[in-house]
Amino acid sequence: MANMELMESLAFPPNPCIIGAMISPYPFKPRGRLLDVMRQVGDPNLINLAAGLPSNQCIPKADLREAFAATLEENADEALGYHVPDGDVRLRELLVNRFRHRGINTSADQMVITTGCSQGLHGMIRLIAKSGDVVACEAPAYYSTLEIMGDLGVNVLPIPVRDSEGIDFELTQTLFRRFKPKLFVLCSTLSNPSGATVPNEIRKALVELCRETGTRILEDEIYGELSEISDLKPIRAYDDGSTVSYVTSFSKTVAPGLRVGVCLPGLNANAFALQKCQQDMHSATLCEVAFRRYFETGRFDSHLDFLRRLNRERRELGLRIIKECFPASVKVWEPAGGFLLWVELPPDVQVKQVYKSALAQKVAFCHGAAFFTSEEQQVSAMRLNCSRPSEDQLVKGLKILGQIMQRA
Ligand SMILES: Cc1ncc(COP(=O)(O)O)c(C=O)c1O
Repeated sequence: MANMELMESLAFPPNPCIIGAMISPYPFKPRGRLLDVMRQVGDPNLINLAAGLPSNQCIPKADLREAFAATLEENADEALGYHVPDGDVRLRELLVNRFRHRGINTSADQMVITTGCSQGLHGMIRLIAKSGDVVACEAPAYYSTLEIMGDLGVNVLPIPVRDSEGIDFELTQTLFRRFKPKLFVLCSTLSNPSGATVPNEIRKALVELCRETGTRILEDEIYGELSEISDLKPIRAYDDGSTVSYVTSFSKTVAPGLRVGVCLPGLNANAFALQKCQQDMHSATLCEVAFRRYFETGRFDSHLDFLRRLNRERRELGLRIIKECFPASVKVWEPAGGFLLWVELPPDVQVKQVYKSALAQKVAFCHGAAFFTSEEQQVSAMRLNCSRPSEDQLVKGLKILGQIMQRA
C-alpha cells in the first residue's frame, strides 16, 4: 500500500463502546500495518523520523565484525548447523545471568531465543488469547501489537496512558476488576510510542492486581536497557513467571538485523517452544553464536552507556528544535531514555494534512492514529525518531514539520 493510502486508511469508524471515561472492551480492526512502515524504511531519499530503528551509528559494527569472523573461524560447524528450537544453550545461560542482575529469576530451560521481540509478542498473544477474549493494552500502544490483537479478533480494553509514568493505576484497577481481561500487553519501559515508564511500585501493584483478576501480563521490555532510571526493575522481577510472561530483544541495543530476541513464556514454555519450532525450527544459529561471542567480550555495558548518552543528546536536540519551530501549544512527552518522542498536537492541526505535506517534502513521521484502536481515545499526535537521522537531517526534518504546522 502506498504511504498516502496507508494514511487515508487511518480514519476510524466511530466506536460506541467508549463514552468519556466509560471504557468497555470492543472488537477492532488494526489500522497501522507494520509492513507499510517497514517498506518506507528502505527509501534513501526520505528524512525518516518515522521508523522505530536505532541509528546506524548505534550499532557496534567493529565488535560484530570481529564476533562473526571469529564464529566462522572457530565455531563454524555449530554456527552453520541446526540447533535446539529453544536457542543456543550457552547464550541462554549468559542471559539468565544478566537477567538475574536485573532482578529476574529464571533458568536456561525456561527461556526461548526468538527471532526478534516480534516473534515472542506474536507467539505469546496467540497462545494466551483467543478470538472474543478481553485483552487489555495501553492506549496508545505499539501498532504491531495492536495488529496481532486485531487480526486475532480479541475484544480490546484500552487503558489510557496518563502521563510519563504510564497508565492510571486506579482506572486500571477498576477496569480489570470489572472486565477481568485474559491478558494485558504492556511495554513497561519507554513505551512505544508514548515513552512512558511505569515506576517500580506500580509494577509490583500491577502483578498483585493481575493475580487477583486472573490476568496474565505480557511484558514487552524491548527498550528496558535504554532506560536512564538506574534502579528500575522489569515487572517480571516481581513475579516467578506464573503471572508475567516476558519478551525483549537486542534490536534497539545491538542491531535489529541480528533478529536476536528472548522470551520467558512462564507457564506456557513448552507450548511456546513447540509453536516456534513449527514456524522456523529455531532462530538463525549464526546470529545467535556470533551474538554470544560479542556478549562474551563484556563490551555490551559500555556500549549501553554510549547509547544512553547519544540518545539523550539527540532527544535534547530534538526538543530544542521543536520548542523553537513547532506551535507553542504542542505537548512533548519527555521520556527517561530512548530515542522516540511523542508529540501531542493542538486540535486545530490536521495531522493527516501535515503528514501529506511533509511527505511531499520528503519528511516522514509516524502518524499517532496508528497507535490507537478507536477514534474516541485517539489524540492528534506524531511519533518522532531523534536518533535514526543524522543531526543535520533531524534539524532539517523538524524545521520542515514546524513550518508546515505554523502555516496550517
Ligand atoms: C514495543 C516494541 N516491541 C517489539 C518490537 C519489535 O522488535 P524486534 O525488532 O526485536 O522484533 C518493537 C520494534 O519497534 C517495539 O517498538
